[in-house]
Amino acid sequence: MSRFFHLLNLIFILYILNIPPSENVDRNNFKTCEQSAFCRRQRKYKPDISPYEVDLRSMKTIQSGHLQFILHNTLKSPIKFQLDIFTLEHNSLRVKINERNPIRKRYEVEHALVGEPKLVDVKLTNLDGKQVEGSFGKSAKFLLNAKPFRLDLFTNGIFVMSVNSKNMFNFEHYRTKPGTNESTGENNTEDNEDGMWEETFKTHQDSKPYGPSSIGVDVNFLNFENVYGIPEHADAFSLRSTHDTDPYRLFNLDIFEYDIQNPMALYGSVPYMLAHNEHATVGFFWLNAAEGWIDVNNDKLTVQGFFSTIASFFSTKPTADKNEVPQVSTHWMFESGIFDGFFFLGPTPRDIFKQYSVITGSVPLPPLWAIAYHQCRWNYNDEDDVRSVLNGFEKNVIPLDVIWLDIEHTHGKRYFTWDTQKFPNPEKLQDDIARYGRKLVTISDPHIKKDDAYQVYADAKALGYFVKTKDGADYEGSCWPGASMWLDYFNPDIFQWYSQRYSLENYKGSTGNLFIWNDMNEPSVFNGPEVTFPKDIIHYGGWEDRDVHNLYGMLQHMSTFQGLFNRSNGHIRPFILTRSFFAGSQRTAAVWTGDNAAQWSYLKIATPMLLSLSVTGFGFSGADVGGFFSNPDAKLLVRWYQAAAFQPFYREHAHIDTARREPWLFGPDNTRLIRKAIEQRYNYLPYWYTLFYKQEKQGIPPMLPLWANFPKDKNVFKTEDLFMVGNGLLVCPITEADTNQVSIYFPGENTIWYDTRTLIQYNGSETVLINVDMESIPVFQQGGVIIPKRLRRRRSSMLALHDPITLVVALDRNHEAKGELYMDDGYTYDYKHKRQMIYRRFIFRNNELHSKTLDFTGKFETDAWIERILIFGYPKNPKKVIINSGDKQAIPLHHYHAESQMLTIRRPGPLVASDWTLTIT
Ligand SMILES: *[C@@H]1O[C@H](CO)[C@@H](O)[C@H](O)[C@H]1NC(C)=O
Ligand SMILES: *[C@@H]1O[C@H](CO)[C@@H](O)[C@H](O)[C@H]1NC(C)=O
Ligand SMILES: *[C@@H]1O[C@H](CO)[C@@H](O)[C@H](O)[C@H]1NC(C)=O
Ligand SMILES: *[C@@H]1O[C@H](CO)[C@@H](O)[C@H](O)[C@H]1NC(C)=O
Repeated sequence: MSRFFHLLNLIFILYILNIPPSENVDRNNFKTCEQSAFCRRQRKYKPDISPYEVDLRSMKTIQSGHLQFILHNTLKSPIKFQLDIFTLEHNSLRVKINERNPIRKRYEVEHALVGEPKLVDVKLTNLDGKQVEGSFGKSAKFLLNAKPFRLDLFTNGIFVMSVNSKNMFNFEHYRTKPGTNESTGENNTEDNEDGMWEETFKTHQDSKPYGPSSIGVDVNFLNFENVYGIPEHADAFSLRSTHDTDPYRLFNLDIFEYDIQNPMALYGSVPYMLAHNEHATVGFFWLNAAEGWIDVNNDKLTVQGFFSTIASFFSTKPTADKNEVPQVSTHWMFESGIFDGFFFLGPTPRDIFKQYSVITGSVPLPPLWAIAYHQCRWNYNDEDDVRSVLNGFEKNVIPLDVIWLDIEHTHGKRYFTWDTQKFPNPEKLQDDIARYGRKLVTISDPHIKKDDAYQVYADAKALGYFVKTKDGADYEGSCWPGASMWLDYFNPDIFQWYSQRYSLENYKGSTGNLFIWNDMNEPSVFNGPEVTFPKDIIHYGGWEDRDVHNLYGMLQHMSTFQGLFNRSNGHIRPFILTRSFFAGSQRTAAVWTGDNAAQWSYLKIATPMLLSLSVTGFGFSGADVGGFFSNPDAKLLVRWYQAAAFQPFYREHAHIDTARREPWLFGPDNTRLIRKAIEQRYNYLPYWYTLFYKQEKQGIPPMLPLWANFPKDKNVFKTEDLFMVGNGLLVCPITEADTNQVSIYFPGENTIWYDTRTLIQYNGSETVLINVDMESIPVFQQGGVIIPKRLRRRRSSMLALHDPITLVVALDRNHEAKGELYMDDGYTYDYKHKRQMIYRRFIFRNNELHSKTLDFTGKFETDAWIERILIFGYPKNPKKVIINSGDKQAIPLHHYHAESQMLTIRRPGPLVASDWTLTIT
């Protein structure tokens, strides 16, 4: 939900801040690179020769897999840097560069990594004292060049990444402030460029007591034409060249009514970029939580000098007359911290997902209900309103799992309280909601209302738990409740204390059926510079916000997670939605794309935004259905429901000034279409749940770009209007009002695609015009994939837990297919601790369908059985179908539809948990 206001709030806040209304909605409220002094300095840093040199004689082996060198800036000779190279398991490399003896310790990011990365041995070769070559892992290699400093990376013998080959590495060491030093009498006149020691933006002054501290580096992806990632931006999936625009910015901000197709910063930051071509997928992650800017340029590398000596390592050989290979060159600039770069060498998309998730963690399996349908609004006004919305779902026979309460449910935006006029009996309300297995989510923002009568405030104030100004006072700003303060989660005591606010004793009126939404946690500060914290305020440990800014939201939701986890003594899986995030946030929260708008263009950009999140670890993400701001017409709303039914987090949400838009308010026909879209989501939940389980295990996000499944098909490297769910479904959202036809390129040579509605078959590697009507968006099942579904109509996902399963077997050209099904109780950790789960593999081959377990130790009690098997692309009407399960044999009925080539097997009957074989003769 946005910091934007219904009228009364607006007038009130403008009154207390004494600013004209246009100030709050103006894009000029946010810095450009030109207005950010360090970005300005770094962006223009382009020497012909890099002054940085590695002293190879200084090499030390700290332990196997960890090398250390001294790096000099030859223009500032006394300044020494330490270069650490770590060869890691899973074809990954970590490189750290820090000052050796800084006058002030530089910040190294905490909380983001899942643990200490594991080292692997490296085989070193010293080449003429000029370079060091290290081989490690699965044919991965680095080449460290000494003069100048440059690092080249190879995977499978192919040259893929190069650091500082454009000479832009530029590390601003901490220094003393210009002027006469009273103790030494020296007058330092160097290092006094504009903006180094203070800068002002609008009316805000950043005092910069420690001076310049930024780091810039170029990272170049050789032979690649497409790079992805670095969310969050409302922009293309394959990142644009920033040659004519600002760089992409990473700085967690609450941007009111964000524009699309531009590189402005949004709510979250993940400094992780991937590159993909038909030979390899690689990634670069710079662990840094300060403000960052990243330039992207598609250019060509001229293969001469050094590069011609290694030309044999390019996957595309430079031709004799044109000594050029394509490359994407990127320039990364962060305001402080250290260089801490992870290089993931793939080489496949699956390897990359695994490699990144080993470092920052994967999305844990959510409760089943959390991946079902959510109904939200700012605000459901009172208990009656909530009950009448629930009744609307009953009356209209639309499934629902979660209903949400926004800020107005509290007593004057005091989180952990209730407006007792409107919500006199919240426990009873939650019990009623729980009747059909449904849940309640309430909002809990990080700003704490300054009010001595508010217990949370009074306690935190007394304990000294708020973030401090540079002068040591409690920092005060303005947010929803008016004057507010912010807890300093960086302090472990405060982190723990805040998490305990979520206990059932402390959070009065909450029950085990209530889960949490952390909004405004960039944090949003209405009267702060760029609507957030001043950079010179101080967090625990003495760190400026400048050093740690992008971690703040993550720490809040991590603490919330801890609270919900402890509330059930670690028995029940928490659910938290966060707006702000950083690398690692995926371990404890789902994210959504914030305050979008009810316009077709925002429906369209949701796909590239969610793909960018998915490939950078955020497999559990979504965009508000319908668009948060303003009113969607019925067509847009229906199309949004249809698209989001196939996106990981599925929630309808709307601004307080919008008209009510519950699914049944747009006439019977639109109600039917919305019901159908939501039902589709419920039908595919067994498939989604299986994909989420695989994500926890392997880091593979459920929503995927086409290239993740078709890495060699060049035609899909930029695709962002289609996406896949697992490897089974190809989804085409309809993002224009009057669409009768769409042109779809089907990926994959020799692949068959089945239209899930008509069963019409399409061949891969072809572009086809597909007719479209309002009934559904085009969705295709890949031949070769088996998808489990549940087709019985239920009020909620939890009521369907033990319902029978339908298997949809889509045959490939060899008449084969395979798929998986994961099941458990849907809400506890028993799947982990007691192995109460079922994980099955289905294989169709030689006219037999087998069900086998993938996990022999797992056991989950369920009477769920196989109710139906649909086989797409079956060539002829068989004589007989036999099913063998244990010592039982049965001959189920079958039906063959020749025109669509679909074989239906009715009530084959085996239990989902059992081994069985179906034989078709
Ligand atoms: C003055 O120089 C001394 C010795 O180099 C140093 O420790 C001190 O921090 C300097 N003071 C200022 C204000 O820069
Ligand atoms: C230090 O040097 C600068 C530039 O030469 C000069 O303008 C300034 O007055 C000097 N400061 C002192 C205190 O001597
Ligand atoms: C959560 O529970 C664990 C185990 O019971 C306990 O050690 C820990 O202190 C608790 N944390 C909080 C924040 O209450
Ligand atoms: C698809 O490919 C198969 C095998 O090459 C061919 O028989 C069939 O006609 C093709 N279908 C279409 C619609 O082009």
